[in-house]
Amino acid sequence: MKKTIHLVINDEEKSLSVDVNKTLLEVLREDLGLTGTKRGCNQGECGACTVLLNGKPVSSCSLLAVKADGKSIVTIEGLAKDGTLHPIQKAFNEKGAIQCGFCTPGMILVTKSLLEQNPKPQLAEIKEAISGNICRCTGYVKIIEAISSLVDS
Ligand code: FES
Ligand code: FES
Repeated sequence: MKKTIHLVINDEEKSLSVDVNKTLLEVLREDLGLTGTKRGCNQGECGACTVLLNGKPVSSCSLLAVKADGKSIVTIEGLAKDGTLHPIQKAFNEKGAIQCGFCTPGMILVTKSLLEQNPKPQLAEIKEAISGNICRCTGYVKIIEAISSLVDS
């Protein structure tokens, strides 16, 4: 069964007919081609599929797309503007916080939400903010350095 939903995705209004059983992750990746949002565990555990829903991080694998009807969504594709990376993306690049990159979209979106709510987070607050996002590569040190560099600047 299908239902028409209305979303604002990366500042663009969209109306689309979605399968009522599809997750937001599936709709983003399969229906909209926004493959920057990654599928890791598909069980709400790893954070790879994180997007911002009305500014708050959510696991898109654990949310039916129909539940996002009427809401605003930011995916990693929404951050760079006119070919220029977002400052958080630049910081992750410059600090070597990206290895395989699978966790990176989710980490960056969680960081965006954190810094919007709390521009000067303490180290413990940074750790808490990314605690739902698993990275198998970096050991988190470089990621925390990247986020901290944005706080200091
Ligand atoms: S893929 Fe959604 S939390 Fe892991
Ligand atoms: S950079 Fe590979 S999982 Fe984080």
